[in-house]
Amino acid sequence: MKIQNQYNLQPLNTFGIAVLAEQFACFTNIDELSYLTSYSKTNPLILGGGSNILFTKNVEGLVLKNEIVGIEKLKEDVDFVYIKVGAGVGWHNFVLYCLDNNCAGVENLALIPGSVGASPMQNIGAYAVEIKDVFYELEAWHIADKTLVTFNNKDCQFGYRESIFKQQYKNQFVITTVTFKLSKKPVFNISYGAIKNELDKMDITKLSIQAIATAVIHIRQSKLPNPAIIGNAGSFFKNPTILNDQFNALKLVHSNIVGYAVGNTHTKLAAGWLIEQCGFKGYRNGDAGCHNQQALVLVNYGNATGQQIVQLSHKIIDAVLDKFKVQLQTEVNII
Ligand code: FAD
Ligand code: EPU
Repeated sequence: MKIQNQYNLQPLNTFGIAVLAEQFACFTNIDELSYLTSYSKTNPLILGGGSNILFTKNVEGLVLKNEIVGIEKLKEDVDFVYIKVGAGVGWHNFVLYCLDNNCAGVENLALIPGSVGASPMQNIGAYAVEIKDVFYELEAWHIADKTLVTFNNKDCQFGYRESIFKQQYKNQFVITTVTFKLSKKPVFNISYGAIKNELDKMDITKLSIQAIATAVIHIRQSKLPNPAIIGNAGSFFKNPTILNDQFNALKLVHSNIVGYAVGNTHTKLAAGWLIEQCGFKGYRNGDAGCHNQQALVLVNYGNATGQQIVQLSHKIIDAVLDKFKVQLQTEVNII
């Protein structure tokens, strides 16, 4: 465990933004984490895979990269397997483990970048599944109290791209392990239209978690930019939820607007559609741009700064507000 000064974070964030951390270290266990958090004068910035962060300036103080590994089967009963995973394990590696061991529940979440430890932060989700659906509990280090605290599903207050760790407990806890409750008897979720279409294309005769994961991987690879090639952090904005009355009024003017019912009173809009309608899909200003296949994803073509990406995001927010009277909110953590 080495503390390094003026450390280059560019390879550690998928936007590929060149910034320095005043100090940087990795931790692989609780003892190292405890030492480093006590050493730090202010609460450190915790980094997993850096796939949901946009750096806009050099980071003052200490940045800690989570490298706690390990996947352990804790217990099982007739229906479920409980698997405890180190927060530094790559999310997709954990999905592959589940596929290899016929543990169902995370197949729709294949190929999401980042670490297991960050997955509860924004309750990661894709293709009609969120981690709250398979989450059992997590352990997190309370920086001020120097204790390990266990949170169950209810404690985490999961919502759409939300948890208590992004709100009330922001920057106070470091998630060290997450335990998932996975099914031995899969309940397949192919409600998301694109999965059905992809499975048809693949000529799948017998549905399995492996086939669903393969379909999801194909869909994701066809429209989401690979951060190894073009810097990005996935969806830059959340899909906004509005009242049905506002949606119906918008539909009168924009008959093909994309929306999904949320309960009986609200509709969730596809932010990508709104942004595309404002003419930003494929837009580029210097090295900051809006992806040409998924307008919800802002990209760094090479040497964009975090500030330039933020400026573009403000332009998009203003345009969507002006055209649709809908306020977009960022999903990415802007530092
Ligand atoms: P980081 O970016 O390192 O950190 C994210 C936030 O969590 C930061 O605030 C950080 O301080 C905090 N944090 C990280 N680890 C810990 C920890 N152990 N304890 C406490 N705080 C911590 N997300 C989805 O939900 N669905 C998708 O379909 C999806 N697709 C994506 C596609 C692409 C191409 C990309 C680049 C991103 C996508 N994302 C998606 C976003 C991203 O993958 C997830 O948010 C992921 O969980 C981030 O993990 P990370 O380890 O990279 O987190
Ligand atoms: N759309 C457009 N133009 C675009 C992009 C999308 O019209 O440029 C339309 C599509 O045609 C479709 C609808 O918007 O009708 C939804 O698009 P898509 O299926 O691509 O999903 P999304 O709503 O844009 C969300 C998540 C993704 C997740 C996918 C799949 C958010 C903010 N984003 O995107 O998550 O992978 O659904 O479930 O909820 C992420 O969080 O980083 C992320 C990639």
